[in-house]
Amino acid sequence: MTGVKIVGVGHYVPERVIDNFELEKWFDTSDEWITTRTGMKRRHWASENEATSDLALAAARKALADANLDPTDVDAFIVCTVYPDYLFPATACIVASKLGAPNKAAFDMEIACSGFIYGLTVASSLVRSGVYKRILLIGAETLSKLVNPEDRGTAILFGDGAGAVVLEASEEDSFLGSELGADGSKPQLLLVEAGGSRHPIDELALEEKTDRIHMEGREVFKFAVTKMIEATDSALAKANLTKADVDVLIPHQANKRIIDAAMKYLEMPSDKCVINIEEYGNTSAASIPIALSEAVGDGRVKPGDTIVFVGFGGGLSWGAVAWKWQ
Ligand SMILES: CC(C)(COP(=O)(O)OP(=O)(O)OC[C@H]1O[C@@H](n2cnc3c(N)ncnc32)[C@H](O)[C@@H]1OP(=O)(O)O)[C@@H](O)C(=O)NCCC(=O)NCCS
Repeated sequence: MTGVKIVGVGHYVPERVIDNFELEKWFDTSDEWITTRTGMKRRHWASENEATSDLALAAARKALADANLDPTDVDAFIVCTVYPDYLFPATACIVASKLGAPNKAAFDMEIACSGFIYGLTVASSLVRSGVYKRILLIGAETLSKLVNPEDRGTAILFGDGAGAVVLEASEEDSFLGSELGADGSKPQLLLVEAGGSRHPIDELALEEKTDRIHMEGREVFKFAVTKMIEATDSALAKANLTKADVDVLIPHQANKRIIDAAMKYLEMPSDKCVINIEEYGNTSAASIPIALSEAVGDGRVKPGDTIVFVGFGGGLSWGAVAWKWQ
């Protein structure tokens, strides 16, 4: 076994900014309601001709530049997304080719907003076991295109963006421990029902908007708080660490109140937690790598820091990774 570390980070969000006041024009909602219930002020939405791979590509280029690497130096490309360019081929294949590394391993991972946590665990394992020396891991989403434009309960929540990290084999090991979990017994809590093999899109689906995101917000809220806490505790226990050892918490940015509740239980002061939900909303699998890229960029994450990445989402699914920044 070898170790793994992150040698480059980068993120990209579309130019178009939708603030809460813009949403007031389209829905029976208010800046005050959105801010107090979610902590969101703005989100970035992709243009009509921007697809998930375009965002992923922009973030990937930045991460490669940060790592001072050429795309051909990378052995495998992984895109975590719930809304790929196509049902197939995988978005990662498109990204790798456009980067100029067409003959490498490339695949997508779909586990909704937990995507980056699962992706980091899988990619780290591939590097630590010696299968690949370098992996480009990307979280990228364009969920503004998948929300139900008639549902104010979900349409206000999601933003678009991408974050990328370059993982590389290393003598010292950044990967300290991971906890992943899923419970598929209640898919109706958070799903897109139509468009897969169970319910191909038909006229009824289009009429009832079952080809768009459906969420039971209150249930998901309760689940999210519980699982963020449990997953963080478990990942730390596997790493032989305690809450007191954590220097930086980088949570999935779904709701400021969910993050606050988890921080309270974990007894973490707010300056230990990276929160950018005000600017981006919920960017699903992209939210954690975007937050990491920003925090590395402005010095909130420093060499030697112990980080906990924690997320949750559709599945239902959840996970946390304890990580030493080198
Ligand atoms: C979605 C969420 C913000 C809603 O907040 P909430 O406090 O639970 O609100 P509720 O869903 O109970 O709705 C309360 C009221 O606000 C209304 N409401 C919903 N969206 C609204 C909006 N955008 N503006 C104004 N009112 C809204 C509801 O219709 C409801 O009205 P009613 O009481 O007359 O029926 C919250 O449940 C949440 O964040 N859940 C977790 C979502 C999440 O994290 N999803 C992603 C997982 S990766």
